[in-house]
Amino acid sequence: PAVATAELVTAARSAGRGIAAFNVITLEHAEAITAAAEAAGLPVVLQISENAVAFHSGRVEPVLAGTAAVARAASVPVALHLDHVESEELLRAGVAAGASSVMFDASKLPYEENLRATARMVEWAHRHGAWVEAELGEVGGKDGAHAPGVRTDPAEAAAFTAATGVDALAVAVGSSHAMTDRSARLDHALIAELRAAVPVPLVLHGSSGVPDEELRRAVAAGMVKINIGTALNIAFTGAVRDHLAADAAVVDPRRYLRPARDAMSAVAGHMLRVVAGSPA
Ligand code: G3H
Ligand code: ZN
Repeated sequence: PAVATAELVTAARSAGRGIAAFNVITLEHAEAITAAAEAAGLPVVLQISENAVAFHSGRVEPVLAGTAAVARAASVPVALHLDHVESEELLRAGVAAGASSVMFDASKLPYEENLRATARMVEWAHRHGAWVEAELGEVGGKDGAHAPGVRTDPAEAAAFTAATGVDALAVAVGSSHAMTDRSARLDHALIAELRAAVPVPLVLHGSSGVPDEELRRAVAAGMVKINIGTALNIAFTGAVRDHLAADAAVVDPRRYLRPARDAMSAVAGHMLRVVAGSPA
């Protein structure tokens, strides 16, 4: 069934587990991730980013409706989240269309402006029953430039959380978006400091580039929501490429989308178990 992100994050945190949140671009992503969660018997967050909405002609409703239908039919709890939203208009449209939570990303703005914009959106979202994640200390790689050196300051994170009323905080601790190899090293001492300083659940972005053992340690130290995107797309595109290379006559997209969906599901199943601390 479809449930609220808040419910899954709260339950994971109390159990000392992580909750995996995967980026959905196509319907095949939503199906692959949900099938993996069902096979693992684990809850999952399906998240749609502002970039994914841009790909779907700027409309959030169709992709959210399809993803929501997959979530409702699932045998495990599945939550719908909007990821890296910079547009206040999209945030409002997404919540109206059924997203239970949003990440409002004003992390490119200077601290004071990020704080003011985030506080305003949190106030609006809470009045509309939505849970809000914000980001402090920009996690690199969103524009293609990896910046794993950026770090979130614990005292600033505590002040930001108190001043904005956010429900979860994405922090920069060594990961970077869109990495195609799993070579990131996390700052585990900083994760523990942030965990002690910030009362709300912490979110790790750019988790595709983080090795399994680093992810397990990060969850043990207090990271709760673990965002994964690129790892699925590596599997998807690799399977499509292999199929097309082997079958020059193929026309029906289902012939290569099926193995692509299966490949994403295998990766999602592995990551779900790592994040939840289940045996792989
Ligand atoms: O918000 C989405 C995540 O941070 C995904 O990052 O594509 O590097 O796994 P990734
Ligand atoms: Zn991210």
